[in-house]
Amino acid sequence: MKALYFNKFGTSDVLKFGEVPTPSLKRNEVLVRTDYIGLNFADIYRRRGTYHIEKNNPYIDGYEAAGTIAAVGADVSNKNIGKKVLFVDGPLANAEFVALPREKQIDLPVDVSTKTAATIGLQGLTADFLAHDLAQNSPGDQVFITGVSGGVGRLLAQILIADGVRVFGSASSIPKQQAALALGVEGVVSMRDPDWKQGFTGRFDTVFDGVGKTLNDSIELLHPRGKVVFFGMAGGNPPTVDLADLLAHSKSILTGDLWDYLTSFSERKKRSARLFSYLAKGTIKVREPTVFPLAEGKAAHDYLESGKNIGKVLLKS
Ligand SMILES: NC(=O)c1ccc[n+]([C@@H]2O[C@H](COP(=O)([O-])OP(=O)(O)OC[C@H]3O[C@@H](n4cnc5c(N)ncnc54)[C@H](OP(=O)(O)O)[C@@H]3O)[C@@H](O)[C@H]2O)c1
Repeated sequence: MKALYFNKFGTSDVLKFGEVPTPSLKRNEVLVRTDYIGLNFADIYRRRGTYHIEKNNPYIDGYEAAGTIAAVGADVSNKNIGKKVLFVDGPLANAEFVALPREKQIDLPVDVSTKTAATIGLQGLTADFLAHDLAQNSPGDQVFITGVSGGVGRLLAQILIADGVRVFGSASSIPKQQAALALGVEGVVSMRDPDWKQGFTGRFDTVFDGVGKTLNDSIELLHPRGKVVFFGMAGGNPPTVDLADLLAHSKSILTGDLWDYLTSFSERKKRSARLFSYLAKGTIKVREPTVFPLAEGKAAHDYLESGKNIGKVLLKS
């Protein structure tokens, strides 16, 4: 089969496209013929060698894709063959075929295409757990999202607005700011503007920070008893935080990794059903993703790292 792979960690120059062995199936696995593969920031960290990646020779990046079940292992019912599925935590996904443990299979509702599923899958489940497990805001709360036009940011904003929460955020360019305002975000600032915190300092119940290097700014935006939900480092590692200062203002930092919440087949089913329900109600509007052929994976990595994308980047298998 064809795959996007690499032999050593580094810049996008290490990526190659070519033939690798098709995986063989264990008894409890299904073979997914991928259709659309999600490219996520974690894949950049993995390619650089700064994040956990499945041991394989060669390395094959990617943990998220949607496609069709082409074969099943001995312990899995044949009825699964032909099903449209999504997975968001299955390794070696940058390939035509992926051997996936059955418990990681998320069945798609009939009206959700593989393209839509791959567009909202991992980022949507992330937004859902950030909002509903970590922040747990109430209607009327005011929150700020760094990088509100990114993939997670857009979905998080829409889920929170549908939950009755008032959303503000940052976006670095005019097109990104316009895209956020069109979702119902009430105010969008560029962190490149030296005065961007004016009117925002000390105002928020929750700040969602997936940029990382902005963590101290995020803390400043909180009012006493507010909390930062720190969930990623798209802009670089977070600075050291002064815990005594946090204590002095009763502020908190919560962190979380989606995979610690996707711990079983039933957790995946429950959480994806909640995400798909927002889609069915029309409260999540899916922006057309930017699609690169899997063979052009290097260009896709460069694009995601440039920070220019609005919404999801997919690889077409
Ligand atoms: N904790 C979890 O379980 C989990 C799961 C999935 C993703 N994540 C994290 O969530 C964050 C967002 O992921 P995503 O998939 O939404 O990524 P994305 O679509 O690329 O969005 C990231 C946003 O970060 C901002 N940014 C600031 N500095 C940047 C830089 N130097 N390079 C690139 N972007 C920069 C950009 O917005 P502006 O240009 O507007 O600033 C960009 O839109 C990442 O840190 C990712 O690792 C965490």
